[in-house]
Amino acid sequence: MSSILQPINNISDRFELGEQIGEGSTGYVVRAQDKENRDLDLALKVLDPRRWGNGFNRDIKDFELAHREVESWASLSGHRRFPRFHGGYYEPDLTHYICLDRIDGVTLRQDLDQRLQHGNKYSPEEIRCILIGISEGIHAVHHLNRVHRDLSSNNVMVDGDLNVKHVDLGFLTAENMLRSLFSTTCGTLGYTSP
Ligand SMILES: Nc1ncnc2c1ncn2[C@@H]1O[C@H](COP(=O)(O)OP(=O)(O)OP(=O)(O)O)[C@@H](O)[C@H]1O
Ligand SMILES: [Mg+2]
Repeated sequence: MSSILQPINNISDRFELGEQIGEGSTGYVVRAQDKENRDLDLALKVLDPRRWGNGFNRDIKDFELAHREVESWASLSGHRRFPRFHGGYYEPDLTHYICLDRIDGVTLRQDLDQRLQHGNKYSPEEIRCILIGISEGIHAVHHLNRVHRDLSSNNVMVDGDLNVKHVDLGFLTAENMLRSLFSTTCGTLGYTSP
């Protein structure tokens, strides 16, 4: 974990932070530039400890969830259905940062909403392309003996060619940990099974 998750005094020492590009239950996501490699177009997922201990995460102790997410990103980095992982950082107040390639696209939810508004339905070929993209990512997760646990249209992004990338590994769990989590609620309301 040490090499993929490093302490940093202030994230701005290393990154120039840009506008917010997303928000979720565990924090928010901003556009960023690495001062040591300005060629990369990055997204920094900011995990704010002040939001922990609420809602779905209330049973998870300490920073286990953030550390697990960093480790999951490192494991899946390089797979074409996930943005590349460039490192995890934490500040003295324990705000954690996950540095990923920025996906130039919209969430599947946003794409669905736009299409509904304009009456622009997906063709069967487009639906096939999206489903294959989602399945390839989930297959990679299962190949690592892990379970996604939070698949939703907000956690999948698509670009203009409907290339799919999974952007949220916050609840990814190793299969051998599942037994202790059988009684834990997670996921996104509306997407969880009854
Ligand atoms: N690599 C990325 N490139 C571009 N946008 C991103 C990226 N990662 C995340 N986002 C945007 O930020 C939003 C929130 O990210 P994410 O789902 O990881 O946060 P979260 O706090 O874990 O959300 P949740 O409420 O599902 O737990 C996404 O829905 C997406 O719009
Ligand atoms: Mg999410």
